[in-house]
Amino acid sequence: MFMHSSLVAGLLASGMTVPVNAVAFADAEAGYHTLQQFYNQSIGLWIPSTGWWNSANCLTVIADLAAIDATVKAQSLSVFSNTFKKAQVYNLQMQKVVGAGYMPWTYYGHHWPNFPPGWHKPSPHRTNGFLNSYYDDEGWWALAWIAAYDVTGNRQYLSTAESIFEDMKAASGTTPCGGTAIWWDKDKTYVNAIANELFLDVAAHLANRGGSKSSYYLSWAKKQWAWFQSSGMINAQHTVNDGLNITTCKNNGGTVWSYNQGVILGGLTELSKATHDNSYITTAKQIADAAIANLTVNGILHDPCEPDCGADGSQFKGVFARNLQILQQASPETRYATFLSDNANSIWANDRIGQSELSLIWSGPYIQPANASTQSSALDAIVGALATS
Ligand SMILES: *[C@@H]1O[C@H](CO)[C@@H](O)[C@H](O)[C@H]1NC(C)=O
Ligand SMILES: *[C@@H]1O[C@H](CO)[C@@H](O)[C@H](O)[C@H]1NC(C)=O
Ligand SMILES: *[C@@H]1O[C@H](CO)[C@@H](O)[C@H](O)[C@H]1NC(C)=O
Ligand SMILES: *[C@@H]1O[C@H](CO)[C@@H](O)[C@H](O)[C@H]1NC(C)=O
Repeated sequence: MFMHSSLVAGLLASGMTVPVNAVAFADAEAGYHTLQQFYNQSIGLWIPSTGWWNSANCLTVIADLAAIDATVKAQSLSVFSNTFKKAQVYNLQMQKVVGAGYMPWTYYGHHWPNFPPGWHKPSPHRTNGFLNSYYDDEGWWALAWIAAYDVTGNRQYLSTAESIFEDMKAASGTTPCGGTAIWWDKDKTYVNAIANELFLDVAAHLANRGGSKSSYYLSWAKKQWAWFQSSGMINAQHTVNDGLNITTCKNNGGTVWSYNQGVILGGLTELSKATHDNSYITTAKQIADAAIANLTVNGILHDPCEPDCGADGSQFKGVFARNLQILQQASPETRYATFLSDNANSIWANDRIGQSELSLIWSGPYIQPANASTQSSALDAIVGALATS
């Protein structure tokens, strides 16, 4: 139907959004093909378009799309196997720092010599599987291989996630902040939300996939949730701050990033599946509602760093959408279905150029560049909408 321009102007003046067409599977497939233009076949990573942990998130969104789209599934099997083979040999070395406003930054070998003081160029080809010096990076890869296992049934992927979990678990209880907490980094400089949420989330996912070891993973997930809940990182508004001050072990008041409101939703939903205890879902919805209230404008998700989110912050919002999808599939609410479809439709209408290049700001305008980080993140919202509509 043709809409008269004065009607559009009237809707805009009244603050209403102009109706947009809903995203379709064909759009998600086009978005997948754009993402794969950034894929580096020789190393199995989306580099140099994005980085190491971000590549794990690219793999995850492809698996999540493959789970609902047979065409993409057929094409993605070779991506999983190529990444499995090549990425763990390449194992890109890097240094990460927490910048002003708790903004994370990653410096890679190929950024030499533009790196901060004190940073040493790493040896570029150290073979260390999917482990490195950062426990959050390890958690992202564990979740990526669990997602690839879910869609392929390939047990090699599941056992890779299990062995990554063991490396994270070895750090448990070594921080000054009690319980099962883990450090963010192997240099022991920071205890933050993301690494600890991922530790919980990986354990809870494995509890539902671990066969004879399910109760082992469940017990770690429960212990880690007990610690996280009492850590103080969930504030009085029910949103999650960036981390703890390691001198006082109190909430550091750091930025409320969307991804820290996301990973916890997946962890709590998996815990609820493993225990049939609905109280985890109740807590997850409290955090989801608080995050949506705090981080949206007219229903569209924003991170406080926009429009300058760097290479890492540009991928955060997709993590929230992906985990809201997990919660929504377990315990649907109309308001979450609306959130996911509004965000997906806004990305397609306002944050796209060409057929399917998707950028940082989901409400628009499109800003340069679109890369594997922004593309995978936006695709998470589109997959979330398609999977729950
Ligand atoms: C793939 O990655 C390697 C190693 O970083 C790099 O040398 C090469 O230029 C990349 N290929 C493309 C097409 O970007
Ligand atoms: C941690 O708290 C201590 C004591 O209040 C304070 O002196 C220090 O500056 C804080 N550290 C950071 C990184 O904020
Ligand atoms: C989000 O929460 C922060 C504190 O965590 C607060 O400063 C900010 O005003 C909130 N924003 C909205 C839109 O609720
Ligand atoms: C990817 O795009 C985002 C948003 O435009 C930008 O902030 C980021 O630096 C880009 N990443 C890389 C590795 O260039």
